[in-house]
Amino acid sequence: MNSETPRIVVTRALPPAALEPLHSVGSVWVSPHDRPLTVDELHAAVRGASAIISMLTDRIDDDAVAAAGPNLKIVANTAVGYDNLDVPAITRRGVLASNTPGVLVDATADLTMTLLLTVTRRVAEGDRLVRSGTPWSWDIAFMLGSGLQGKQLGIVGMGSIGQAVARRAAAFGMDVVHHSRRPVDVDGSHPLPLDELLATSDVVSLHCPLTPETRHLIDADALRAMKRGAYLINTARGPIVDEAALAAALADGTIAGAGLDVYENEPEVHDDLRRLDNVVLAPHLGSATVETRTRMAELAVDNVVAVLTGKDAPTPISVPSS
Ligand code: GLV
Ligand code: GLV
Repeated sequence: MNSETPRIVVTRALPPAALEPLHSVGSVWVSPHDRPLTVDELHAAVRGASAIISMLTDRIDDDAVAAAGPNLKIVANTAVGYDNLDVPAITRRGVLASNTPGVLVDATADLTMTLLLTVTRRVAEGDRLVRSGTPWSWDIAFMLGSGLQGKQLGIVGMGSIGQAVARRAAAFGMDVVHHSRRPVDVDGSHPLPLDELLATSDVVSLHCPLTPETRHLIDADALRAMKRGAYLINTARGPIVDEAALAAALADGTIAGAGLDVYENEPEVHDDLRRLDNVVLAPHLGSATVETRTRMAELAVDNVVAVLTGKDAPTPISVPSS
């Protein structure tokens, strides 16, 4: 291919079959590293690129877009969340940003229920006990957890993932309430102000995006406002929760337990959380099924192919005005 051929930068390996369509629209560079690129590596890699396929571990800000230069047309994030992109900066430079909504709704809702069940039924704690070789026997009061039937689930952020969690929770016999930026009408759930949701829910599950408004939405005050004996589930973004405050609330019994898939300074996890038995810690697995990750890669690729061939991107976050 000649120098006019669009350069497409993929910041971390994706399934080669999913990348196939890119080869007919450009020359593809895929990071050889089995880790996120450093900022310097990222900026060097994107030079001259027409398209960047980014991961949620990449910070794509004004400097990154400037490093790419004037050929850049699209940043296709391989995630539904896009707090790692500075969308206004990208858009200001005439570049389109896209994400991968829709395809990971069920996988993420399933993982939310997994964490909810695992923490309320103490499965991970029990697994550690069995593996440790500690003697145990069935006893009427042994390792009791908390049932879900008739309990209230409070969903914060009632987008498509929140709604998919609501349907699952209803099947488990839970009563569902929600708090959402935009009013949404969801069968079987009613809206509540956040303070009321926190004060009345037996389980609170976070499904809002990370924005300046939602950073530390769940802080020490919010945790104190929760019911004693309540559980917190976070499969959204780590910084929505003040992790140090959460560790303290779990240690002193302010809340009963937590199930976390995301962390404030990923992949670091607060030391105190790693020591506590009443928190289940998953390594950001919300969308981690073969089927879903394949569809996410395909959708990121579809967005790039569309933009490089002059068509409308299927899932834009924002379209620059030209
Ligand atoms: C995963 O966290 C995503 O936003 O896709
Ligand atoms: C946050 O509360 C949201 O509604 O997404």
